[in-house]
Amino acid sequence: MASAYRNWKLETDADNLVWLSLDKAGASANVLSAEVMSELDRIVDELNQQKPRGLIIRSAKESGFIAGADIEEFTKIKDADDAMRMVRRGWDLYNKVAALPFPTLALVNGFCMGGGTELAIACRYRIAVDQPGTRFALPEVMLGILPGWGGVMRLPRLVGPTAALDMLLTGRSVDARRAKNMGLVDALVPPRVQENSARMMALEAPRPRTLPLLQRIMNSAPMRPLVAAMARKQVAARASPDHYPAPYAILALWQRYDGDPFAPRPEDPASVIGLLEGDTARNLIRIFFLQERLKSLAKDSDFKAARVHVIGAGVMGGDIAAWCAMRGLTVTLQDQSPERIAPAMKRAADLFKRRLRDKPRIRDALDRLIPDVAGDGARHADVIIEAIFENLQAKRELFAKLEAQAKPGAILASNTSSLKLADIGAKFKNPSRLVGIHFFNPVPQLQLVEVVKGERTEPQVAKKAAAFVRQIDKLPLPVKDSPGFLVNRVLGPYIDQALRMVDEGIAPETLDAAAVAFGMPMGPIELADTVGLDICLAVGKELAGENAEAPKKLAELVAAGHLGRKSGRGFYVWKDGKARKRSSRSAPPELSAKLMAPYFREARSAVAEGIVADADLGDAGLIFGTGFAPFRGGPLNYLKEQGY
Ligand code: NAI
Repeated sequence: MASAYRNWKLETDADNLVWLSLDKAGASANVLSAEVMSELDRIVDELNQQKPRGLIIRSAKESGFIAGADIEEFTKIKDADDAMRMVRRGWDLYNKVAALPFPTLALVNGFCMGGGTELAIACRYRIAVDQPGTRFALPEVMLGILPGWGGVMRLPRLVGPTAALDMLLTGRSVDARRAKNMGLVDALVPPRVQENSARMMALEAPRPRTLPLLQRIMNSAPMRPLVAAMARKQVAARASPDHYPAPYAILALWQRYDGDPFAPRPEDPASVIGLLEGDTARNLIRIFFLQERLKSLAKDSDFKAARVHVIGAGVMGGDIAAWCAMRGLTVTLQDQSPERIAPAMKRAADLFKRRLRDKPRIRDALDRLIPDVAGDGARHADVIIEAIFENLQAKRELFAKLEAQAKPGAILASNTSSLKLADIGAKFKNPSRLVGIHFFNPVPQLQLVEVVKGERTEPQVAKKAAAFVRQIDKLPLPVKDSPGFLVNRVLGPYIDQALRMVDEGIAPETLDAAAVAFGMPMGPIELADTVGLDICLAVGKELAGENAEAPKKLAELVAAGHLGRKSGRGFYVWKDGKARKRSSRSAPPELSAKLMAPYFREARSAVAEGIVADADLGDAGLIFGTGFAPFRGGPLNYLKEQGY
């Protein structure tokens, strides 16, 4: 068969197996655009006539298998009919793939997301290539929508409802090994034998794996309500149906309609139309594009670091060093003595164990993280990150040495939260080399990193810094050198006001409940305890001036050594990493509005003053840096929708 397609390549081999490779035209990653889908539809029709011995679907891209549907197209949906046409397109096509009268196999190498996973599970067999990038997910829930191309029907049948609902309701990805263990794929093979393995399986056509009896029973119509009720409880602990309707819709669609998106009526909570018409999906899709924009900010430089030198092995420096080593860089970590570095090494080992799991990979990451009391690493580093005490004099002295030692093209960066880059760089021979790379605590959990460009920072240095931030898989946000940059400037007055409300007699639990009801991931008092009350006190002084009076209860707690989570007690008592709250209180809506007011005020003024380039970047920074209610699409977007 001649290949007459823009995005697909067809080859028939000597065994009469058809190898169908997706290579989306003009794109670095495969997405399932309307054109890709309609071509596949024609191919499937042709193959239905041709009846080859088998069909193997794979990707011709280095980057991975399929990244999912073309989300750009979601934003162009005009009305409910349009939306249902889009769902119909994939639903009918994948049903046709599933009904092909010969063996079909998806050979998955690299990421396999959303509609890609739905295509893979419409095939009779799946082989995953065993390499770190191979991952499967149905992340639709994170965009506030549901998998409408058969995922809600087929995944529970393939791996059982418990594992399937976990993927469907959280959007979490599973790696190749987990996919094999849970039965999502039939085989896990090393890269070099992938084609042979696929060929053998398609030719031998073994009996497809069947679900164990217990799982089959749990997936049966009479049992589904019970399983769904348990899952619904877990969902309710994370997200309210008013804010996040999608997981509830997915559950209802599975429980009552066996995953058929055309069965529910439009007003049914299981309906995909209801989701697409609501604000949440629109806002979550907006966030997806904001995230893409942050990623693209790293593309102005092709800088790639191999070695990083971090000075200061404390809370921040220790974790920054560990994170960089985990992401494949060679890292030297300097502090005043080996004793000061040891706790950071211990935390790094824990991080690697948790995140990398695999023993050889853990060992390699540990090998890449090198304690360096003498500071020899500075000479060889491509990026030098200073994370010592927040003390201007100490930082200046340190940088005087570093500037003399550093390689000519190396980035000199400070992680300072509250000092001005201009002050730190005042004694530099060449201050254009200095840039701020401001991480957030806890480093492994927070994706955002502010890249601070001082007045004298050379633009190219800031671009290199953004590329470095992306290289270690964080999101760079360019900000101007101004007190608190973006994130702390907005969080500072918000937390400060909440702390003063405690002084006025409002219970911390009530305040936190008001923020959570608005959609914040955590209330301001719990956040203060988490950040550390000593740090809150210092940042408050920095932002409000030395002479401003600190919130009373805050000052008392710090004086008594109760610093929050890290010391076991602050506004709350902390046990096993959790704040013990006396009762879960409900808060009146006026309280939420009052609590959020300083947050909005600062967000607006920061954008007006050009701390970030535009309102969208303000939203992106505050969503990824403070967890601002994602379903509201960002504080500035929210204000706009409220008519400001
Ligand atoms: P920390 O007090 O936990 O650690 C500082 C470390 O630097 C100590 O281990 C100390 O021994 C070492 N150190 C001090 N002077 C040194 C020198 N001359 N040479 C080598 N090592 C030296 O401090 P933390 O909290 O990690 O803060 C470090 C920097 O990160 C500060 O600039 C702070 O503003 C910034 N930051 C802190 C955040 C936080 O939540 N703690 C968040 C974001 C930035």
